[in-house]
Amino acid sequence: MAYDGKIMRRAMARFEDDKHTREDRFAQRREGIFRRCPRLQAIDAELTGTMSRIITQALRHGSDPRAAVERLREENLSLQAERKALLYDLGLPEDALEEKPACPLCGDTGYRGGAVCRCLREYYAREQQKELSRMLDLGGQSFETFSLQWYSDQDSMGLGISPRENMDWVYRSCKRYAEEFKPGKSGNLLLTGDPGLGKTFLSAAIAREVSGEGWSVVYDTAAHIFDRFEAVKFGRDERAEEDVARIMDCDLLILDDLGTEMTTAFVQSALYQIINGRILERKPTILSTNLKVDERNNEIAKRYSPQIASRIEGEYQIMPFFGKDIRLLKKGL
Ligand SMILES: Nc1ncnc2c1ncn2[C@@H]1O[C@H](COP(=O)(O)OP(=O)(O)OP(=O)(O)O)[C@@H](O)[C@H]1O
Ligand SMILES: [Mg+2]
Ligand SMILES: [Zn+2]
Repeated sequence: MAYDGKIMRRAMARFEDDKHTREDRFAQRREGIFRRCPRLQAIDAELTGTMSRIITQALRHGSDPRAAVERLREENLSLQAERKALLYDLGLPEDALEEKPACPLCGDTGYRGGAVCRCLREYYAREQQKELSRMLDLGGQSFETFSLQWYSDQDSMGLGISPRENMDWVYRSCKRYAEEFKPGKSGNLLLTGDPGLGKTFLSAAIAREVSGEGWSVVYDTAAHIFDRFEAVKFGRDERAEEDVARIMDCDLLILDDLGTEMTTAFVQSALYQIINGRILERKPTILSTNLKVDERNNEIAKRYSPQIASRIEGEYQIMPFFGKDIRLLKKGL
C-alpha cells in the first residue's frame, strides 16, 4: 500500500484529535463517577502506584519484597471487590473506570507490526475521499446513481449490440473491477468513446469505491498530470516532485481526458514513462479518452507512439462507449 505523505499527515492529525477527544471524555466521565462516590476515588488512588511504592521501599531496605507484594495483592483484591460492588450500586459495569483503547489491535497507536493499522487506514481513506471530491463531483457520481436509461436499446448503428447492452456490460465490468480491486493484481482499463457517454462518470465511481476501501488513488486530467511532469523538468514548483511521485506510486492512477492536451515530444515521453513504468511495477491504471483504438484507425498510435499503443493493446482491457451524448440528451437536445 502506497501512502501519500500529505494525505497521511492530515489523517494522523484527525486520528490524534479523536484520540484526545476520547481521553477528555473518559476523564470527565471518571470525574463524574468520583463525584457520585468519593470512596471510588480513594480506592483508585490506592490501587494505582502502591505496587511500585512497595517494591521501591523493599529494595531500599534491602528486604525481600515478596511478602509485602503478596500482602498488597490481597489488599488490592479486596479493594477491587469493593470497587466492583460500589460500581454495581451505581448501576455501572465493573470496568467503568478502565480506559480501553478504541482499537484493540494497535492500542490506538495507529501502527501494528510496522504497518498502518486498519483504524488509521480508515482515517486515511476519509481524507483521500475529501481530496478526491475536491477534484470531481464524487457525491453524485457513483455506481448507484449510474443509469442505463440514457443509452438506447436499439442497435441503430448495426453493430450487433445496442448501446444499452454494451453499457450494461461496461458498467458491470467497471463495478466488478472496483469491488475486486487489489494493487499489484488488478489490470488496466481504457475507457474510450465519444464525448458525453459516461467515461468520467464511471471512472469517478471507480475512484470513489477503490479509495473508500483505503487504497491510494490519484485522479486527474491528463493535461494536469503532464503539467506536473513539466514542472519537475523545469524546476517550476517544489510540490511537483511530490506530485509526480504520487502519480507514479499510487495504488490506482486514473488519467482522465487523455488526448485533450497539446501533444508535444515531452508529453509523448511522459505518457510512455507513466504507462510503461506502472506496467513494470504492476500498478493498475485507468485511462479515459475520446481517441479511437480501432485496428484500422488507431489514434493513440498516431498521436503518441506505436510503443504506447502496443502496451495499451497488450495490457489494457478496452471498454468501448457508444451511444448518444448524454450531456445533450439531458438538455433535451
Ligand atoms: N449513466 C449515466 N447516468 C446518469 N448520468 C450520466 C450517465 N453517464 C453520464 N452522465 C452524465 O452525463 C454527463 C457526461 O458524462 P461524462 O462526463 O461521464 O462523459 P464523458 O464520457 O467523460 O465525456 P467526455 O469524453 O466529453 O469527457 C455528465 O453530466 C454525467 O453526469
Ligand atoms: Mg470525461
Ligand atoms: Zn488500530
